[in-house]
Amino acid sequence: MGPSHADASNGPRPCGDRPLRPADLLTCKQEGRPIAVLTAWDALSAALVEQAGADVILVGDSLAMVVLGHATTLPVTLEEMVLHTRAVGRGLQRPPARQPLIVTDLPFLSYQCGLDDAVAAAGLVLKDSPAAAVKLEGGEPETIAVVDRLVRSGIPVMGHLGLTPQSVHRLGYRRQANDPISQARLRRAAMDLQAAGCFALVLEHVPAELAASLSRELSVPVIGIGAGDACDGQVRVTADLLGLTERQPPFSPPLLAGRALCIEALRGWVGALQQPPAVAPPTTPAAPAAPHC
Ligand code: KIV
Repeated sequence: MGPSHADASNGPRPCGDRPLRPADLLTCKQEGRPIAVLTAWDALSAALVEQAGADVILVGDSLAMVVLGHATTLPVTLEEMVLHTRAVGRGLQRPPARQPLIVTDLPFLSYQCGLDDAVAAAGLVLKDSPAAAVKLEGGEPETIAVVDRLVRSGIPVMGHLGLTPQSVHRLGYRRQANDPISQARLRRAAMDLQAAGCFALVLEHVPAELAASLSRELSVPVIGIGAGDACDGQVRVTADLLGLTERQPPFSPPLLAGRALCIEALRGWVGALQQPPAVAPPTTPAAPAAPHC
């Protein structure tokens, strides 16, 4: 019997026959193997993303908007992030050694209110869910201190610079680092995050040349979204990629019109159900058979 979809793999993994660890992404970068990161928010989306062959599943706080219906990512809570990460873990179908690495976003205000609180929040994610790493946004000195403390506590951290949706009220959803001063600032923050121990860095909606040069200069992998093709890997919000969200960001075009296709299929089902049953045309009663003599 051939391998099932659930067993399918997109080729050799940098970790051989054990679960992928955050540090293995460094090997991917060194070997020039592009890193595929997709978001998931529940068991269903996790199964799709795993079977598609993603290296990493990001339980992004974008789930606040995509799944929970909030206007921004700010309202989602740590408990909700843990709950969704657990659902993602339950959706994985490969044997544990072949499953994607799960990284969970630390939500707004779970890591900004002090180092001890940040360790408690990130520690809870690792203790109570199948995530093996957390992601957090920003590169201010306070955030660098948090990364340093988490890494020293044994918690792998992915950084996130450029468009950082948790700062929407300060930065909006515009492309970031458009002038030499802000580019120098972002470059400094990237170096500081690496020095503090981040195992990878997401760069969102920044000029492609900046992302390309940082991918060359940093030893840790740069995972881009709206940051050009020259990064060490790419991350996408799965619901955007499938065209399920009402509007997709201009830097993340959909692969298919998922929303329209789903609505059309469901409308067909509802329509067929509600359609009154076709009335059969009246049949003329058959003439009585001639008696046999
Ligand atoms: O929350 C999220 O989905 C993210 C990605 C856009 C990188 O942070």
